[in-house]
Amino acid sequence: MKKYNVAVVGATGAVGEEMRKILEERKFPINNFKPLASSRSAGRKITFRGEEYTIQETTADSFDDIDIALFSAGASRSREFAPYAVKSGAIVIDNSSCYRMDKDVPLVVPEVNPQDVFLHKGIIANPNCTTIIMIMALKPLYDYSKIKRIIVSSYQAASGAGASAMKELSDQTVEWVNKKEITVNKFQYQLLFNVIPQVDMFMPNGYTKEEMKMVNETRKMLHDENIKISATCVRVPVFRAHSEAVTVELEDKITPQKAKGLFNEFPGIKVSDDPENSIYPMPLFLSGRDDCEVGRIRQDINGENWLSFWIVGDQIRKGAALNAVQIAELLIN
Ligand code: A2P
Repeated sequence: MKKYNVAVVGATGAVGEEMRKILEERKFPINNFKPLASSRSAGRKITFRGEEYTIQETTADSFDDIDIALFSAGASRSREFAPYAVKSGAIVIDNSSCYRMDKDVPLVVPEVNPQDVFLHKGIIANPNCTTIIMIMALKPLYDYSKIKRIIVSSYQAASGAGASAMKELSDQTVEWVNKKEITVNKFQYQLLFNVIPQVDMFMPNGYTKEEMKMVNETRKMLHDENIKISATCVRVPVFRAHSEAVTVELEDKITPQKAKGLFNEFPGIKVSDDPENSIYPMPLFLSGRDDCEVGRIRQDINGENWLSFWIVGDQIRKGAALNAVQIAELLIN
């Protein structure tokens, strides 16, 4: 079996660390592994498949011998270094927002639009984490009947803003217990005991960038510019795993029973829906898991073409690292 030289840019970050774990767990055929980060981490040791590796600083020359480069170090690092990786002959799978809407860059969730991967010209984009989790549930519905309208509210974990944001929530908890002043750096306000209706910057239309990513990226992956989508993205004091309340209007009638069947048959989705026994997906129990879970599946009271449900997924795994590794698997298989 062919083996590949794989680099992870941002190997010390929340997503980068998970990429390492997933490459190992899924036995990705790796010849050389190259963990890259900033000069701050250069020289630090990490373990991969039982062997010790030294983190190197990311530079223009980092990619000379690399076949696949998984980027998760933020959009500005992708803008700076991905072109060097492509020039060196590597295929870039980019977790940042940098290239997602470029028409020459496929945006891929392997369960949703695997065929798009092969249109790449050196870069493949990994979608926004909140969008990935939502589209996992939308795709089986869309294959049954076109979706006309989506109204979604997200309940996003701290980890979506990186390892340091998770630490801030943890530090705030300790500060609160010790009656110390609460430190706020990563979010606009204290996240502990709070809910912040802002994820990313506001745009001139009153929506945030995160909300518009859900609109634009969903349309791109479903190849349907006509879907009406309105999103409200909210940060909640949860360490890991995003939750989303979704309402859809389809062209055709749908029953909750039909929807459950469609979700159950779709890879990467599990139904967890028994309201009488208080069974529904929750982020506490989805953290660290690969599948997204759907529950609270009900006929929306707007009508027979409408459905409401609740979906939860680990945004560091399916929402980022796992999806990126699945894209790499599609490429090599
Ligand atoms: P470092 O740890 O050296 O700062 P997160 O999203 O969890 O905050 O992680 C961000 C990742 O991006 C980290 O691995 C971080 O490395 C990396 N990173 C930040 N700045 C750079 C840079 N200039 N060059 C390469 N990697 C970077």
